[in-house]
Amino acid sequence: MFFRLLRPALFALDSETGHRLAIDGLRMKPRGRPPKPGKLAVEVAGIRFPNPVGVAAGFDKDAEVPDALLGLGFGFTEAGSITPLPQAGNPRPRLFRLVEDRGVINRMGFNNGGAQAALARLEKRAGRPGVLGINIGANKDSSDRVADYAAMTRMMAPHATYLAVNISSPNTPGLRALQDEGALTGLLDAVIEARGEVMGENAPPIFLKVAPDLEPADIDAIARIAIDRKLGALIVSNTTISRPKLKSHHAGETGGLSGAPLRPLAHQRLRDFRKATGGALPLIGVGGISSAEDAWARIRAGASLIQLYSAMVYEGPLLGAQIVRELEKLMERDGFSSIAEAVGTEPPVT
Ligand code: FNR
Repeated sequence: MFFRLLRPALFALDSETGHRLAIDGLRMKPRGRPPKPGKLAVEVAGIRFPNPVGVAAGFDKDAEVPDALLGLGFGFTEAGSITPLPQAGNPRPRLFRLVEDRGVINRMGFNNGGAQAALARLEKRAGRPGVLGINIGANKDSSDRVADYAAMTRMMAPHATYLAVNISSPNTPGLRALQDEGALTGLLDAVIEARGEVMGENAPPIFLKVAPDLEPADIDAIARIAIDRKLGALIVSNTTISRPKLKSHHAGETGGLSGAPLRPLAHQRLRDFRKATGGALPLIGVGGISSAEDAWARIRAGASLIQLYSAMVYEGPLLGAQIVRELEKLMERDGFSSIAEAVGTEPPVT
C-alpha cells in the first residue's frame, strides 16, 4: 500500500534515480531477520533455502542491502554483478521502464564499485544468517576475462553461500561468447580451481547464469558441461536481446529486456534446460515472474528456486513476501507437500 502511494512520485523520477532511492531506503530500514524455514523450505546444492523466492542479481549490485532484503522475507538474495575493478558502466540514460508492457530495458554495463568496496561490506556482515549469493563478472576492458572470474572467485568465495558466474549479460561486448563450449569449459575449470585454492570442505557451490537467447545445441552443450563440472545449479535466465511485440515508446532502446515481456521466453528456456538436464541439475527460474502463479508455474516447469527483479519496480519490495504467502496456498491447492515434490511436474508440452 505504502509503495502504491509512493509509486507515482518514484515513477516521475528517472529510473536509475528511483532505484538509488529504493536502495537508500533499504539501507535505512532496520535489517530484520531472514525468514525461518517453513513448508516452502527447499534444499539446493547442499544449501537449505528457507523459501524458494529470491532477489535476482542487478538489484543490489554492490552488496549494500543483502540483510535488509532477507529481512523483507526473501529466501535468498544475489548481490552483484561485481567485477574486480570499479566500473562506471554505460552513459546514462541506460535504464528504461516500459510501463505499458510491465517491462524494463537496461544497458547498465556492469556498473559497480568493484571487488574491494564490496569485500569491505561483506566482511562487516560476516557471520550474519541468510542465504547470500554473490554474482561475479569480468571488467569490460580486461585483457583476460577468465582471470577476472578466477580472481573474483578467490575474493568472494569465503563470503558467499553460493557463487553465480554471470556470462550472460548482453551489455558487456563479447561476454556471452563465454557460453560457447570450449570457452565455457576453460572458464569453469579456472573458477573451480580458484575456489579450491581458497576453500576446503565448506566451498560454496557454483551456479551458472545463462542467457535466454540460446540455440538448442548451446543448451545441450551447457547442460552437459554443467553436469560434468558438478555445478550446483543453472540460473535461467538473464535478460533477452530479442524484442517480442512491445507497446512502450522505449521499445527501441538497446539493451537487455526483462519483466513481463520476457516471461514466455524465460519459461520456455527453463523447460528446455529441464529437458536437457533430465532433472540431474537444479534450475533457478528467473524472468518475468511477478506473482505466485508465475512462480508456481516456473517451479512446475522445473525450477527448484525462482528469482525476480523487474516486477519489484512495479509492485515494490514487499512483493517477495506476498509471493511466498500465496505460493504456500497454491502448493496446498495442488496437493503437494513440498516444493521439491512439485519441481518439474508440469505436464509435458508438445
Ligand atoms: C539485471 N540483471 C542482471 N543480471 C546479472 O546477472 N547481473 C547483473 O548485474 C544484472 N543487472 C541487471 C540490472 C537491471 C536494471 C535489470 C533489470 C536486470 C538481470 C536480472 O538478474 C534478471 O536475470 C532479469 O532481469 C530477468 O528477471 P526479471 O527482471 O524479469 O524478474
